[in-house]
Amino acid sequence: MKNIVYIFTISIVLSLTSCSDSKSPNYQFMPNMYQSVGYEAYSEGAIFTDGQSSKLPVEGSVPRGYTPYDYVDTNEDRLRAKAELKNPLPVTEENLATGKELYGYFCSVCHGDKGDGKGILAQREKFLGIPSYADPGRVINEGGIYHVQMYGLNAMGAFTPQTTPEERWQITMHVQNLKAELEGTPKLVPVSETETEEPVTEDGTSSENEQIEE
Ligand code: HEC
Repeated sequence: MKNIVYIFTISIVLSLTSCSDSKSPNYQFMPNMYQSVGYEAYSEGAIFTDGQSSKLPVEGSVPRGYTPYDYVDTNEDRLRAKAELKNPLPVTEENLATGKELYGYFCSVCHGDKGDGKGILAQREKFLGIPSYADPGRVINEGGIYHVQMYGLNAMGAFTPQTTPEERWQITMHVQNLKAELEGTPKLVPVSETETEEPVTEDGTSSENEQIEE
């Protein structure tokens, strides 16, 4: 008898609790706000006054996560990038290490692990005219290193499909260090983690203007 009462009580409790699910809402207030009405592409709709159901984004819209780049692929803008563009990332051990790794994937085949222009493809003469980063006839600085990855230059292709802006700046740091190593000048010094709270500008530009020396 005691068992029957026990089983009866358990089943009542179970049947009362199993029907309500605390994780999903019972009633939705204005459900259209959660499940929006789907329109076929190019179909008519009542939302816009001209009867269209969708529109292109207004001119100048920037997609989420996209970093605008204010320099075009001309010689003039290449010089401008060299003069103005500054690395928005702080020099940290981590950024330098990632830059070195990515450089190994994308750049050393041509430029060589040391940046002396003697990568495997240069040795096998698959590509000619690959410069050393210490080439005295070139202005190779942070803005220029970033810019050449954006658009490429003659035999060198662009690296925009393969790398993100952050990765390109990390690679840039490593190239700067290779250049310093080749020239025997001081390398970038990583800042301690507490000093890394500098604000990062949207397009990576800075207000400082340096004179173009080329
Ligand atoms: C296919 C071979 C090749 C690869 C891969 C390559 N480069 Fe180059 N790079 C070149 C050549 C060739 C030039 C010389 C272009 C010229 O001046 O005509 C050059 C030039 C440069 C310059 C000098 C630009 C200037 O303003 O004078 C930099 C900096 C540079 N490359 C960085 C990189 C970086 C960083 C990577 C990897 C993300 C890379 N390169 C990958 C072939 C390559």
